[in-house]
Amino acid sequence: MFGNVIFLIVSVLSLLLTYNFMRTSLTYKNKQEVDQILSYLNKYLTQTYFAPGATKTQYNSILVKPEIDYCKRSDLYKFYHPDIVMKDTYTFREARGVIRETLRSSYYDCIPQMTYKLKNTQYLPRHVLPIQLTVPFTYYDQLVHKFQVGQESLCLFQKYNHLVTRHVLSHKDNLMNNQYQYLDTMRKSGLDQDCINNATFIPKTYRLFNKLDCEEFFSYLDSAEYKTLIERDGPQFITKVGLEVHRGRGIKVLFPDETKFLQDTYKHGKRCGIDRSLLVAQKYIGNPLLFNDHKIEFRVYWVLASTNPIIAYAYDKTLIRRCISPFDKFSLDKEAHVCNTAIVQSTLQKKGSNLFMNDENSDESELYIDWKLDYLQDLLLKQGKIKDNKWLQNYLHPTIDRMIIHAIRSAQQKFNRDSRLAEFFAADFILTDDLQIYIMEMNYNPQTLKTTLARQKQHAKMTQDMIEIQNAYLRSKYLRFQKMISRLATKMNKEKRPLDSLLTNKTIEEINDAYVDKLDQGIKISEDNLFRLVMDENLPGTKQYKDLIQQKCI
Ligand SMILES: *[C@@H]1O[C@H](CO)[C@@H](O)[C@H](O)[C@H]1NC(C)=O
Ligand SMILES: *[C@@H]1O[C@H](CO)[C@@H](O)[C@H](O)[C@H]1NC(C)=O
Repeated sequence: MFGNVIFLIVSVLSLLLTYNFMRTSLTYKNKQEVDQILSYLNKYLTQTYFAPGATKTQYNSILVKPEIDYCKRSDLYKFYHPDIVMKDTYTFREARGVIRETLRSSYYDCIPQMTYKLKNTQYLPRHVLPIQLTVPFTYYDQLVHKFQVGQESLCLFQKYNHLVTRHVLSHKDNLMNNQYQYLDTMRKSGLDQDCINNATFIPKTYRLFNKLDCEEFFSYLDSAEYKTLIERDGPQFITKVGLEVHRGRGIKVLFPDETKFLQDTYKHGKRCGIDRSLLVAQKYIGNPLLFNDHKIEFRVYWVLASTNPIIAYAYDKTLIRRCISPFDKFSLDKEAHVCNTAIVQSTLQKKGSNLFMNDENSDESELYIDWKLDYLQDLLLKQGKIKDNKWLQNYLHPTIDRMIIHAIRSAQQKFNRDSRLAEFFAADFILTDDLQIYIMEMNYNPQTLKTTLARQKQHAKMTQDMIEIQNAYLRSKYLRFQKMISRLATKMNKEKRPLDSLLTNKTIEEINDAYVDKLDQGIKISEDNLFRLVMDENLPGTKQYKDLIQQKCI
């Protein structure tokens, strides 16, 4: 009994001593050396990877004042306070909406007063970036444009949600041009036709600004085959304006009048090569799968988690959206054929709805059917169109993933390769009556809706899942660098050697290896995260494409 009490007292005392020791032992070991190494790393990595060269304009839409020694202070602080990176999440967002609300309720918003600056206002930058900031999640990509990367923003221990060259995937003309070049390259290298078919992610498209495509298109319009087809199946093509035209703006369905106008404009092909408007004609999907007589599209949210190497994830829950008007292939009503949001929005605006340009949430509740593709599967099972009750896992998801992979591969030459960068996209797909799918368009900063409580919850969960991915890669990288930096700093200190003398080819190679995004150091993405891996260049051979592309096609 007495022994027990003494034992207890001794235990408590030793605990107290340990605690005191730990408290006082937070010394900044080798601080000078660590500081030097971090400065070197930010400089080296920015020179070697992504260095956009800041365009210093007065205008800074997020109202942050850049500070030249920011990364130096931020990385040093995080180096000695691992919990900031490993346990917490310091973020901010300037745009209102579900994403910001979720960031605020689930993580630490370290610039809560942040709003974006409206044009023509007199605000001066009022904020500075907090040194704890780990995962900025901005709407605009200011941190790469108005700041000097590696000094004023995007430090070693940060992960950003933007990629400067994201438009190579989201601009319509880029998506199409990439698809063309990609397929052309495959043809030229003599790959099998089934490789090429599998790599086709948008419907057949003619670039009217390209002489050959344009001539081919107009001679097809004059063909007997074309005449038969429009009589039998209705419109065969839509035209779209290139660049960043989304949500139904700039889309024309080639009804007879529109066709005649186009033929006149291009003089049945004689003006091909002269008229260089960024117009494309795309095969119109005249046999869409219908839901209660309406055409439907579904939107797949996906993230490019890194570009060094390329790692992508797609979200399991998918928004299904329907056209406003019932589908009739002979209808002359554009809204029966094109069900993009802008048309929806202008219709709502006519109804007096209040929609703001920059608000991420718009109300179109009646046009969204469900958030799950399971629903589609049930429907198809009921209609007898499919028999497999694992159709989603066995067919639809792999097909979606394969198309995203090909879209990425067709654009990857143009990405900035850097593990600090990421991007959040949505791809809109259409499903045909015979269950083929095509990508209709790709957007970044996709709308996140909060029209119903359920939808708001889904989007909140998606935001958390996205942040978990950002954090997972950042934390793995942090641990890899922390080990390396500690080792180098100790060596400098013990052997009284300058940093330069330690920067051998081997060390540089280690730095580059540590900078490659991968999940290691015991970091994993949780089981209930609804993002599934789509592509990971860390994996060997066709595994990096989940075996959805055969070796002979690469
Ligand atoms: C180190 O790398 C440089 C450039 O890659 C090369 O020229 C040099 O020979 C290498 N040195 C050693 C010792 O391998
Ligand atoms: C085409 O894609 C499917 C998966 O959707 C895959 O199983 C098949 O092997 C691919 N074919 C080729 C030639 O890559």
